[in-house]
Amino acid sequence: MATTQSMELSINGRLHALTLEPRVTLLDALREHLGLTGTKKGCDQGQCGACTVHVDGERVLSCLTLAVQAEGRSVETIEGLGGEDGTLHAVQQAFLDADAFQCGYCTPGQIMSAVACIREGHAGSDDEIREFMAGNLCRCGAYPNIVTAVRQAAEALA
Ligand code: FES
Ligand code: FES
Repeated sequence: MATTQSMELSINGRLHALTLEPRVTLLDALREHLGLTGTKKGCDQGQCGACTVHVDGERVLSCLTLAVQAEGRSVETIEGLGGEDGTLHAVQQAFLDADAFQCGYCTPGQIMSAVACIREGHAGSDDEIREFMAGNLCRCGAYPNIVTAVRQAAEALA
């Protein structure tokens, strides 16, 4: 019989008590146990970036992070990015303005990655943005518009 473990996860500023098997990933904890389905599963092997979230402010792949590893740390997902009054984060607004998505499946990961990319100081040029956003795949080929969006958001946030 599988053993479960009690844990408390801080997601978007709120504490959630969960009882999970230790093998449950942060991605599945968010999607299947907390109903936060904005974070997507494109591969579950660390190769697509659709599951990108922030842990203590840094971008991580939630499919390669166990939920237990996030205990005592601060997790932010796409659902927590906007203001409480519904205002979009500058990166969300820039993705809309620049048409930086089509199907939208890679988009939450792209946006979480872009927020971190800008914060890391890796949005200095289009080439730098392309390089530091390369961990997020987009099969709709929205890359040129994603670069535009990240550049515009970086300028808006500067
Ligand atoms: S689902 Fe995590 S990298 Fe693809
Ligand atoms: S918008 Fe469809 S995969 Fe990126």
